[in-house]
Amino acid sequence: MSINVTTEFLARDAVRAVRRGDLIIVVDALRCTSTIVTALANGAREVIPVKSLGKARKMRSENPDYLLAGERGGLKPSGFDLGNSPLEYTPERVSGKTIILTTTSGTKALENSKGAQRVFIGSFLNAGAVAREALSTALNDGRDICIVQSGTNGAFSLEDFICAGAIISNLTDADIKLSDAAQAAYLGFKSIEKNLCANIMKSEHSKRLIELGFVEDIKFSCQVNLFPIAPFYDGRAVIVRR
Ligand code: MLT
Repeated sequence: MSINVTTEFLARDAVRAVRRGDLIIVVDALRCTSTIVTALANGAREVIPVKSLGKARKMRSENPDYLLAGERGGLKPSGFDLGNSPLEYTPERVSGKTIILTTTSGTKALENSKGAQRVFIGSFLNAGAVAREALSTALNDGRDICIVQSGTNGAFSLEDFICAGAIISNLTDADIKLSDAAQAAYLGFKSIEKNLCANIMKSEHSKRLIELGFVEDIKFSCQVNLFPIAPFYDGRAVIVRR
């Protein structure tokens, strides 16, 4: 059986993949999905993605033992326990915890993917693991795959495009048909793979993060295959099979 692989460039376009019935892999390499993958790899129980600050604060007031996390404009909102830096999500801080997470684009892409049967979380950190799990699930279910790039503030982002390519480069051992956009992402990744981080630092969002003092987040998030996990979103929370 052959699997079509496409990619959407913006969080809002997740709804198109949902309409097609695709298996979705949501990517927000800087930094939302890198943060989610790190939190779960470091033992967090679950991550609940929430679109608005208001909804996140309300959920926290109803569940005082949950951690409240996220960013607006890249920075931790007032009263939050954690920002959106994957480096903050250490085992000491997150092990066993439920985390409410709200970010500008990444959690929107996740919420917009809600109607899909299967939604996985992808980043450079788990590119191989998420590709393998998504491919075997898609083959099992008879579905096509769409990598939904979250983008940055409603616009295309270089790092998500290249991250989609990193995941596609791990979709092997099956009859895969890439759309032109998916093929371009793959070729883009292959062309800078050996110097990934220095090239990701050229993106507009990277430059903004560097200005804010988050250069270490970019270096961390550019590590390919650091974590062999494939978290998935069940419509309420992102979890990982342990
Ligand atoms: C987002 O969801 O827009 C990003 O994760 C922003 C960030 O780098 O904090």
